[in-house]
Amino acid sequence: MVEPEQPSTARMIDFWLGGEHHFPVDAAAARAFEEAYGPCAAIFRDLRDFLGRAVGAVAEAGVDGFLVFGAGLPTQGNVHEVATAATVLYTDVDPVTIRLGQRILAGSDRAGYGYGDATDIGTVDPAQLHRFVPGWGRRPVGVVFLGLAAFLDDETLARTLDELYDAVAPGSFLAFDFDSEELAGYPQALAMMGPQFRMRTPASFAPLLGRWVPTAEGVVPVARWRPRGEPAAVPDAFHGGLAGKPTD
Ligand SMILES: C[S@@+](CC[C@H](N)C(=O)[O-])C[C@H]1O[C@@H](n2cnc3c(N)ncnc32)[C@H](O)[C@@H]1O
Repeated sequence: MVEPEQPSTARMIDFWLGGEHHFPVDAAAARAFEEAYGPCAAIFRDLRDFLGRAVGAVAEAGVDGFLVFGAGLPTQGNVHEVATAATVLYTDVDPVTIRLGQRILAGSDRAGYGYGDATDIGTVDPAQLHRFVPGWGRRPVGVVFLGLAAFLDDETLARTLDELYDAVAPGSFLAFDFDSEELAGYPQALAMMGPQFRMRTPASFAPLLGRWVPTAEGVVPVARWRPRGEPAAVPDAFHGGLAGKPTD
């Protein structure tokens, strides 16, 4: 693949996770960000561990189909690697990420990758949805919505989560996260995130969940969501949780 001219957050995360699917332009951007903020590998490892615990909990509840929005790269402990008996459709809007994702998943009969704008479920290819998330709208599914909230304003995020709630069957789950106000103390790093970047508090995020019902843990720093042992000692850069659509 020809090296992209611009870095992407998805490939920068791959760099921080020690993956193999990034380019020099991504490594340079990741290092520049770390100069402005501080080391990021532990933070993104912790976030990926949260994904693992949340997806694992959904699979343990009997869900065997997942739709992933803003998926980034499907490696490094991603959804199909955690829910090993499930089928998974990864989606993103970035064409390079989609191509890389399709290349990574080539040959898998359990996981696919396609275009999907998280703010419009209608953009997901119905054939892919049918194949990898069978029974969408009729059977409980897991929706993974991580690394996206920061790029959506409150109105768009609330509408999107509301439409997803209507689209899924009762018994479905939503794994979510959002950026805390951690970067407010690092103006240079904050500037690198661009003018659309949104930080939130748990109190400001909670109403945006609308009808989704968070599990008993609520909305917490991701390290403290059902930790296995001591929570990782990392800055609270991301908060998140798991929410459900009740069956009655
Ligand atoms: C910060 S990365 C997160 C990747 C992955 N979810 C993770 O947590 O490691 C954000 C991803 O969201 C994608 N994205 C941004 N806006 C989107 C939208 N409206 N719908 C779907 N994906 C979007 C970007 O292309 C990028 O791959």
